[in-house]
Amino acid sequence: MPTEATPPTLRTLIEGGICTIVADNPARLNAYTRDMWEALPRLIREAEADPAVRVIVLRGAGTKAFSAGADISEFEGNRTGAEARRYDEINHEAFEAVGRAKKPTIAMVHGYCFGGGCELAICCDMRWVAEDAIFSIPAAKLSIGYNPRWIRPMLAVMSAAKAKEMLFTGRRYSAAEALAMGVANAVVPAAELEAATRKVAEEMAINAPLSIRAAKESIDELFAHPENPDLARLDHFVEACFESEDYAEGRRAFMEKRKPQFRGR
Ligand code: COA
Repeated sequence: MPTEATPPTLRTLIEGGICTIVADNPARLNAYTRDMWEALPRLIREAEADPAVRVIVLRGAGTKAFSAGADISEFEGNRTGAEARRYDEINHEAFEAVGRAKKPTIAMVHGYCFGGGCELAICCDMRWVAEDAIFSIPAAKLSIGYNPRWIRPMLAVMSAAKAKEMLFTGRRYSAAEALAMGVANAVVPAAELEAATRKVAEEMAINAPLSIRAAKESIDELFAHPENPDLARLDHFVEACFESEDYAEGRRAFMEKRKPQFRGR
């Protein structure tokens, strides 16, 4: 547990193709300080550039909270007046970095998942959730104007009516409600969350990275621009799969009745 001597931070652990980014601020339920928001895009870029990383998992330290959102204790100094806009930009860069990550992202959610923490989880490709998780975006309870750029990721996982309910009321949603809303991909007992998240991350980590990338780019582009998707750009990702060494390895491994060893090229 960090003390005053170990300030709030983001920690990265890489194991078995899975890069886990841990929000570590337990004294404030893993709330993100401005420094943590600022560090996140760099950590995502590092994970994207590391060929050993196949999947990125975001979580909070311990099991009480994924994150209680932005660290409100800092707001007086850096989220008022002219600083408020800059704070939003830094916050937005963190959400964008996660939302546009080139590798699959999973939010592993224990306990509180509030405000910016909830948005961060929603920016991930999927959410594995403990039964004790509680989701809320209480912006309207603090008179925070919710950036319109942050509403698109919400609409990718829940209906417009549910997004309105969530933002208008600022109410809390249980894990079961999150599952029904489409926010949670799966809900498991808290004691099983790590193992369940690792299992799904490993399922993806052994698959062909270029194939996953093509699917991810297509789904995100088709959602962002349903009327006018850049299909030529998406075709390029699909062609990269057919031209890859991994495609040859996939065919060979199938014929030889063994597991393929993919390298992402
Ligand atoms: N920023 C800074 N500190 C926070 C925090 C946040 N977002 N969320 C919780 N904390 C701190 C509390 O101030 C408290 O500190 P203290 O022990 O020094 O008093 C500690 O974390 C534990 O929180 P507490 O409120 O006592 O826990 P709880 O279980 O009763 O309630 C919450 C948990 C998440 C419901 C409640 O802390 C809360 O509403 N937090 C704010 C969430 C929020 O509005 N986030 C959006 C920010 S834009």
